[in-house]
Amino acid sequence: MKLFIDSADPKEIARLAATGLIDGVTTNPSLAAKNGMDYVDALKEICASVSGPVSAEVLALDTAGMLAEAKVFARIANNIAIKVPLTWDGLAACRALRADGMMVNVTLCFSPVQAMMAAKAGATFISPFIGRLDDAGQVGMDLIREIRAIYDNYNFDTQILAASVRGIPHVRESALAGADVATIPVDVFRALLNHPLTDKGLAAFLADAKKAGIRIRDE
Ligand code: G3P
Repeated sequence: MKLFIDSADPKEIARLAATGLIDGVTTNPSLAAKNGMDYVDALKEICASVSGPVSAEVLALDTAGMLAEAKVFARIANNIAIKVPLTWDGLAACRALRADGMMVNVTLCFSPVQAMMAAKAGATFISPFIGRLDDAGQVGMDLIREIRAIYDNYNFDTQILAASVRGIPHVRESALAGADVATIPVDVFRALLNHPLTDKGLAAFLADAKKAGIRIRDE
């Protein structure tokens, strides 16, 4: 499964990109508002540290407006993916952008049928928001499973990008359900390797080596 970072903070993203384990980035207007930077400037900085797809979300609600904003984003770098909302105008923009060879991420997906429509419009990525469905009393992961089944039934090549990820269980379950990508907030990404038994085991190895005077000699 590919791992994207769900953030618009270029400095945090650059730090995580240094792990070599970041496959892309997703941003949205709410994330952009958090760091107070100009959105286009932030995207430029992000594209300088990540070579995989970087999603940039349009603000216009009409197709023509979305395509005009997409042109601005497309000038930033070759790895920009245009993020459009799951509306009729958004899907029309998706078709036009795909015909132009752009990557498109269709966002704000909350139902399997919406995801099918996005795939029919040629979306590169579909973004089901699992955390927000959980918040609303539904089971977000069921949406990932149902989209996986529909896409596999008809060989749609749209990639399922699990979004609104709130913790490690979401990452684990997305991988088990066959999501192609999970986009992960910075704090969750940092916690991915955490396990108390890893810490305990490492401390015990080092204590045993110290007690026995074990050294790694360079001959
Ligand atoms: O990429 C957008 C999505 O991840 C939003 O997450 O936590 O605001 O529901 P959240």
